[in-house]
Amino acid sequence: MPAIISKAPGKIILFGEHAVVYGYPAIAVPIDAIQVSVSILPVIKENQSTIKIRNIGWQEDIPFAELDEHDPIRTSIENVYAHINQNPPHFEMTISSSIPIAAGLGSSAALAVAITKCMSQFLGIYLSNDEINALAYKSEEIQHGSPSGIDNSVITFDQPILFRRSKPISQIKIKSSIHVILADTGKRTFTKEVVASVKQNLEKEPDFINPILAEIGGIVEEAAKALFNGEVKKIGGLMVRNHIALRKLGVSSIELDRLVESARINGALGAKLCGGGKGGYMVAICEPTSCERVSLGLESDGATHIISTTIKGSKQGN
Ligand code: PMV
Repeated sequence: MPAIISKAPGKIILFGEHAVVYGYPAIAVPIDAIQVSVSILPVIKENQSTIKIRNIGWQEDIPFAELDEHDPIRTSIENVYAHINQNPPHFEMTISSSIPIAAGLGSSAALAVAITKCMSQFLGIYLSNDEINALAYKSEEIQHGSPSGIDNSVITFDQPILFRRSKPISQIKIKSSIHVILADTGKRTFTKEVVASVKQNLEKEPDFINPILAEIGGIVEEAAKALFNGEVKKIGGLMVRNHIALRKLGVSSIELDRLVESARINGALGAKLCGGGKGGYMVAICEPTSCERVSLGLESDGATHIISTTIKGSKQGN
């Protein structure tokens, strides 16, 4: 039997992180330049199931039974078993990922989506995108507490989305392709902790925090229109406003602010932190002619890794 292979992209939240936890809308896009690939091969009965992890610079083979009960790989696999109420045959799963971990680029959601898809194919069961999304959300809940669900949704549906908690997901139209540069602060943070710090601040100072969340919600509404109309300069300006609001919320960092400033000085149309914040990656958008200058500037201002890619415009008629 040939190996079954499933892939899932990384993602960026273009607008609205953190406010999305409190019911405001947010916009996220899949990023194909980084992805998780999962393959499964059946093994003979006497051999136990193994997980082979083949990340850049790190390779490990772990017997499935030795994975911690809250391990994201284990929970993603077990969620599929529970859903179909069946114990699967033994298998060898190989996971390779180019999505940086704990960096705001959706590594855990992509892992959950790719494992869920691969496992369902291996077991010969059909899961709709809604079912895959719901199962991936369950794994995300174990990792992140009470995530909004934006990461697993954009990765499962693999298209730009306007996401609002507990509302149907809507696909967002992007009139023309946008060049993006993602730059790493080199710092790793846990989204769960940053989300908890915002919650604490909200409880302590609701009159200060609530207007910031509402302001972000308003920026997202404007951004959805600007993306639809292909107004890249406006999109850039809204990203900067979103970053300033996130800084007021207390989720930026010296490194993120430095990289956002660097991108703007070097000609980016806009830049902001992306994801949980306090570290991880920032995102800048630029005209094709200024991308190289922006990248070089980010490198000399401390970025430890750069990903240069494109958000594709929606196909006509979509
Ligand atoms: O850091 P990431 O990529 O998991 O993004 C988190 C986005 C938040 O809005 C901060 C949290 C959430 O659950 O939506």
